[in-house]
Amino acid sequence: MSTTVIILAAGKGTRMRSQRPKVLQPLAGRPLLGHVIQTAKKLHAQNIITIYGHGGELVKQSFAEEQIAWVEQAEQLGTGHAVQMTLPVLPQNGISLILYGDVPLVRQSTLEQLLDASIASGVGMITLNVEDPTGYGRIVRKNGKIQAIVEHKDASTEQHRIQEINTGIYCISNAKLHQWLPTLSNNNSQGEYYLTDIIAMAVADGLEIASIQPDLAFEVEGVNDRVQLATLERQFQQQQAKELMQQGVHLIDPNRFDLRGSLKCGQDVIIDVNVIIEGECELGDNVQLGAGCILKNTRIAAGTQVQAYSIFDNAIVGENTQIGPFARLRPGAKLANDVHIGNFVEVKNTSIGQGSKANHFSYLGDAEIGVECNIGAGTITCNYDGANKHKTVIEDQVFIGTNNSLVAPITIGQGATTGAGSTLTRDVAQHSLAVERSKQFEKANYQRPQKLKK
Ligand code: UD1
Ligand code: CA
Repeated sequence: MSTTVIILAAGKGTRMRSQRPKVLQPLAGRPLLGHVIQTAKKLHAQNIITIYGHGGELVKQSFAEEQIAWVEQAEQLGTGHAVQMTLPVLPQNGISLILYGDVPLVRQSTLEQLLDASIASGVGMITLNVEDPTGYGRIVRKNGKIQAIVEHKDASTEQHRIQEINTGIYCISNAKLHQWLPTLSNNNSQGEYYLTDIIAMAVADGLEIASIQPDLAFEVEGVNDRVQLATLERQFQQQQAKELMQQGVHLIDPNRFDLRGSLKCGQDVIIDVNVIIEGECELGDNVQLGAGCILKNTRIAAGTQVQAYSIFDNAIVGENTQIGPFARLRPGAKLANDVHIGNFVEVKNTSIGQGSKANHFSYLGDAEIGVECNIGAGTITCNYDGANKHKTVIEDQVFIGTNNSLVAPITIGQGATTGAGSTLTRDVAQHSLAVERSKQFEKANYQRPQKLKK
């Protein structure tokens, strides 16, 4: 059966106290609405319809690359009114999942369960039993069967005691939505068109309402302010950390680990505290990450040890390398096996061959470095002339002395050696020694300038 996902995202989000529309606020590095769209895509939904209102243009722009139908709800007259807006574009057949742009973490498996449960009658929903149901719509059951949803503000004292609440997530056949939505009224205490009223309509039509509960309570939690946003972020991070540990990753402290994307790990990976992983990252067997490392879209192969506070952005790192502390690998850094990159070394758009070392204070940019090279402390590739970037080639087994400036474009031939303090502007032939340095000047018994005594 074809599945449509309808996402309500028209709310203002006043309580965020932000210029930014609520559904664009980030959770685990992705906008709230982005999480819902990602889940919809995992379900292979044929249509995704998003209802937007406040700040709509910005919301639309942010997801311009996605295949989404956008429907405007100019005035927010209630959840039922919001879904009414989709009727002109809603298919006549198939089934719809109704989700929310500010309820970001509902999982694919939970929605699949809801879809399965709802197929028979064409009406299903996710409910949850909570300690404190204040504010939520209550699930009214008779002989175990759902009869209606009553909003907190419309509920009787007796109904206020019901602890099973409406999460707001439903699965309803499109034919029924076309039939029921036009008949909603706003005759209630809030003067709103309640989507919840379709449940009573379904019961009146003799349909049985299917219901499921989520495995994790946070799946159905919404975000209204920054306190809830931070709370949900932590719950999500703890869940991700737990899943990684169950897969065999050693997190020194799961409460001090942040994953804003996806992480694939081999066996016996050890991750120290305050590590942040962004985008898509991969760590091979036995990789160790020291405290405070940040990795974005980076792959690190087996056996590599990364010491504290090293930063990676779109880097590829080979096996058994030693990196950091305080190393910075920028986009296009590509290290072969057995490479050493030490403290305060910055590598950008540069490949480094097997066994080569740059252990202290360097900038290596737009360079190609061969195998078994030693790059002396303080070496700089001068890649930029103010307008263009130029390439530095360092062939195999080169020894670059301390504090060299390599003015690109330049090639240092295989096996060559350069003297400390050289500023090299011309190519160096294979196996030769190049030194560029003025002769040492010396004046005996030199008197330094003296301060005048008052
Ligand atoms: C709704 C449910 C309630 C449920 C609760 C769960 C109704 C009538 N009530 O109540 O049973 O327990 O969610 O959180 O549905 N929205 C629009 N356009 C509108 C109104 C709302 O897009 O005109 C969006 C909001 O941005 C929000 C969501 O729908 O994301 C829920 O709206 P809200 O008014 O907060 O519903 P509740 O009163 O919380
Ligand atoms: Ca709400």
